[in-house]
Amino acid sequence: MKKALVTGCAGFIGSHLTQRLLNDGVTVIGIDGFIDNYDVAAKLRNLAEIGKHPAFTFHSTTLQTGRWDIWLENVDAVFHLAALPGVRNSWGKSFSDYVSHNILATQELLEACLQRPKPPVIVVSSSSSVYGTMQGTVTNENAPLRPVSPYGVTKEAMEQICSVYVKAYGLPVTMLRYFTVYGPRQRPDMAFHRFFRQMMKGEQVVIYGDGQQSRDFTYVTDAVEANLLAAQHAVPGDIFNVGGDREIKLIDVLSIMGTLMNLTPRITYQNGPAGDSLRTCADIQFAQQRLGYKPKVTLEEGLSHQLAEIRSQSKG
Ligand code: UGA
Repeated sequence: MKKALVTGCAGFIGSHLTQRLLNDGVTVIGIDGFIDNYDVAAKLRNLAEIGKHPAFTFHSTTLQTGRWDIWLENVDAVFHLAALPGVRNSWGKSFSDYVSHNILATQELLEACLQRPKPPVIVVSSSSSVYGTMQGTVTNENAPLRPVSPYGVTKEAMEQICSVYVKAYGLPVTMLRYFTVYGPRQRPDMAFHRFFRQMMKGEQVVIYGDGQQSRDFTYVTDAVEANLLAAQHAVPGDIFNVGGDREIKLIDVLSIMGTLMNLTPRITYQNGPAGDSLRTCADIQFAQQRLGYKPKVTLEEGLSHQLAEIRSQSKG
């Protein structure tokens, strides 16, 4: 891979992926529309390092402005991370924005790639939220899709439109279902980011529900690695779970965080917004077999990296 397009390059996973591509000697065109739950200052901080790199070109715009001829020129791989993320905000009027950014913009990307003389490989970011609350032991990619949030519905529809372009035209699209990614630069609306900050300020940690919900939390550099592996080894139409080292209850994560910070978290339990999945647990066998994907970072290591970043920011 010589040249890549990263949509959502200033976001959480997108900025890490861009950094990695540049480190690997790839020329990167980055697009970001500053539409998600970050404040602009945080996103600019995400871009600070990569922005100086001579092989990086940045376009500050949403995909809807459609400058595909410029963005896709000589690109061999597209990593599509731009989206309106977040499960809990996707109710009400904001749903039309979720449809626009997650479904319509993806279809425009697919159509633009199809028009290229040699379409690039396209790796699309999906989400474990397409499954809803998981049943049984672990969930593989053939499990029924039963999203429990409007956001999950848009991610499912996004996958469907990708699959249609694969079936009709053989477009080389592959999809990654990330399981609650965490680590440095995590979006400010996400649990670990909020919990660390609440504890650092001596505030109560707000848990939605009873804390018994579980997640297969995935460290951000593992999610980045999955993108690179998918671009190299996936077959068009492949869909992969991208999970972490284990499933764990939220309340147990909080106790690990407390140990790392040498304090006992004070907790307030609240009814959270609807749409929260009670359980996610990834079967990653397919990603292991086809891609050689294996999560490398344990939850304990990953949390300590995230804490170190949050501490260094609060000093600076
Ligand atoms: C996350 C991302 O936000 C989605 O964009 C992504 O698609 C999804 O993972 C996924 O993997 O499918 P979520 O699992 O809700 O969604 O991630 P967190 O925001 O980190 O929340 C984890 C758990 O902590 C949830 O049960 C949530 O209700 C809870 N939580 C969150 C709290 O108890 N308190 C908070 O302040 C924030």
